[in-house]
Amino acid sequence: MISDSTRNALVATGLGALMRGAGLVTRYIPIPQPTLLVGPGSSARLGQAIAGFGHSKILIVTDSIISKLGLLNSLTDALTAGGAQFVVFDEITPDAPIPLIEKGIAFYQSHDCDAIVAFGGGSSMDASKAIAVSVANPHKSLHQLAGYFKGLRTPVRVYAVPTTAGTGSEVTVAAVISDPQTHKKLVIVDPRMVPKMAALDPSLMTGLPPHITAATGIDALTHAIEAFVGHWTTPYSDGMALSAVGLIFENLRTAYRNGKDLAAREKMSLASTYAGFAFTRANVGYVHAIAHQFGGLYHTPHGLANAIMLPLVLKFSSPAITERLALLALRAKVGKPGEADEVLAQKFLDAVDQLNHDLGIPTTLEALREEDIPALAKAACWEAHTGYPVPRYLSQEECEALIARALPPKIAPPKRRKKKPTAGALS
Ligand SMILES: NC(=O)c1ccc[n+]([C@@H]2O[C@H](COP(=O)([O-])OP(=O)(O)OC[C@H]3O[C@@H](n4cnc5c(N)ncnc54)[C@H](O)[C@@H]3O)[C@@H](O)[C@H]2O)c1
Ligand SMILES: [Fe+2]
Repeated sequence: MISDSTRNALVATGLGALMRGAGLVTRYIPIPQPTLLVGPGSSARLGQAIAGFGHSKILIVTDSIISKLGLLNSLTDALTAGGAQFVVFDEITPDAPIPLIEKGIAFYQSHDCDAIVAFGGGSSMDASKAIAVSVANPHKSLHQLAGYFKGLRTPVRVYAVPTTAGTGSEVTVAAVISDPQTHKKLVIVDPRMVPKMAALDPSLMTGLPPHITAATGIDALTHAIEAFVGHWTTPYSDGMALSAVGLIFENLRTAYRNGKDLAAREKMSLASTYAGFAFTRANVGYVHAIAHQFGGLYHTPHGLANAIMLPLVLKFSSPAITERLALLALRAKVGKPGEADEVLAQKFLDAVDQLNHDLGIPTTLEALREEDIPALAKAACWEAHTGYPVPRYLSQEECEALIARALPPKIAPPKRRKKKPTAGALS
């Protein structure tokens, strides 16, 4: 029998070689970028453009809340005005569950569509990307398509309209979907899924509730930070990550407190997209690896899971990333040039705590159960060590201890009150 530490070391060395190879691929392969239309009304302009492309029928994929809020109207009006045919599939729910994606695939096929507009948060956008790969590769199940470059044929064309400022899925190579049977999340990675065009239309986001604004905004922040502190950075990903961090520290509180502030909403959309550009090259880290397990098992909203784990993982990683945290502090304007790196790094850690606090993000996860932690940590470590260029290695035990810090406080059993003797009792 080999000890846990020896096994960890062996795994780390073997996976380390594999990861270095993967890092070289992700850093340098060409990744297409969508043409971006930005600003209020850009979803209508995207509709006009798409109508000119001569598709025979377009599938719009979204969720029922977005559809009931009437957010599709400016796009669909423009499609109708341009003479384009379209159908709407509005049954996607959070985390893009496989059975609903399969329903979307059948809907696409039964209507003979030839393009998709992904309209919504990450769940609708990722469901759309998964449908796009799947209809082009019908001989493979969604499970078989999960992983890197598993579809032989090019996915059908996708256009995107994000309605949250968070995932960056409108520019990324990934589609995160969920399997309700195993309670696991799966990731399909294929650069050919990147949408051809995307509209960042802040007027669609003014009704986004504050708690979703907060969680999705911290998702974008986590993408930027994890991309910036990992081992696969490039000057391009660094530039995008730093821009995103600056914009988020300047605008997320405003978007949270006053959702109707179009300028703040637009800047958060840009930040989310920039963070998407950064992490689609430089990838993410343990925060996401753990958040995906919370999402799979407890259906914790993705952004909230990230927001709870971000401060904990950053504090663990800080000895290995002091210089990088110092640069982040300067971009977030929470420290001054000339201050020591250690001082700046600590200021950035404090600023992340403060931002979470100001956005009403809890420090613990209500649903987390102590008995689940070993399995959650094992799955998170596997995900991170096989896919993410993490800056400081976490062993299974360390990962368990880190997750345990997100346990909700134990509710003390109600104290038994001593009965006070009453006059009646005496008598
Ligand atoms: N593909 C990627 O690169 C990538 C990156 C990060 C996260 N993800 C995945 O994206 C999913 C999360 O996406 P999300 O955080 O955007 O949430 P979401 O798409 O699940 O939406 C959350 C809720 O917000 C509502 N909503 C969305 N836009 C709204 C608006 N403008 N007004 C009112 N309500 C609105 C939705 O109806 C839903 O109820 C997760 O599955 C996550 O794993 C993917
Ligand atoms: Fe994310």
